[in-house]
Amino acid sequence: MMSAVDREETDKVKRRYDRISPVYNQLEFVMERMAMAGWRQEFWEKVRKNLQTGDLMLEAGVGTGKNMPYYPEAEEVRIEAIDISPGMLSRAESRAEELGIEVNLRKMDIQSLDYPDNHFDLIVTSCVFCSVPDPVLGLKELKRVCKPAGKILMLEHMLSDKLVLKNLMNLLNFIPRHIWGANINRRTMENIERVGLKVAAVKNLWLDVFKEITLTP
Ligand SMILES: C[S@@+](CC[C@H](N)C(=O)[O-])C[C@H]1O[C@@H](n2cnc3c(N)ncnc32)[C@H](O)[C@@H]1O
Repeated sequence: MMSAVDREETDKVKRRYDRISPVYNQLEFVMERMAMAGWRQEFWEKVRKNLQTGDLMLEAGVGTGKNMPYYPEAEEVRIEAIDISPGMLSRAESRAEELGIEVNLRKMDIQSLDYPDNHFDLIVTSCVFCSVPDPVLGLKELKRVCKPAGKILMLEHMLSDKLVLKNLMNLLNFIPRHIWGANINRRTMENIERVGLKVAAVKNLWLDVFKEITLTP
């Protein structure tokens, strides 16, 4: 049986991202410069290799649209992008306009997607499963809306398996969680296994914390 969405927790995450949306890009500036921008570039090269003309792609948890500069051309691929936070979405909308990108932006919860089964050829997430209140539910939804021959590509951070770092991440988790609802101690690989998604490839980008993951339903 499908477990229910925790509305209260989901609303809390939405409010936190709404609150930080005006300064989100500034808050992430150093991390973006130091590592994320390079990882995004490499990640999107992989995304493009997995896309064919006419495909339908979903970016789940689009945020302020940081991946948009790497999107394929609209004549190649149709793109949908969703987020729970109207504040983040409005920044994504401005970014899309600025870049002249055609993308259908919608406010939607990854834990209960308003799309039919087997709908997308490719689904992309980056740094999203740290803040989805019930990541297992979110992963189940991605599995449901992905075509059987489709793929899910993720650039995500998670709890380390290395004892000292793991304890530290668990200890400090309350800080990012309280500020913007993001957890640094999610067991994403275990959650992926729990929902029955198959790991086609996984690459560690920084220790065993930041990973690039390719999944099939
Ligand atoms: C850390 S940000 C990452 C944004 C973007 N993917 C990036 O790489 O910059 C996480 C995003 O996930 C969104 N999010 C969190 N929970 C969500 C949910 N249940 N459904 C849809 N989006 C969600 C947040 O609103 C936020 O925009």
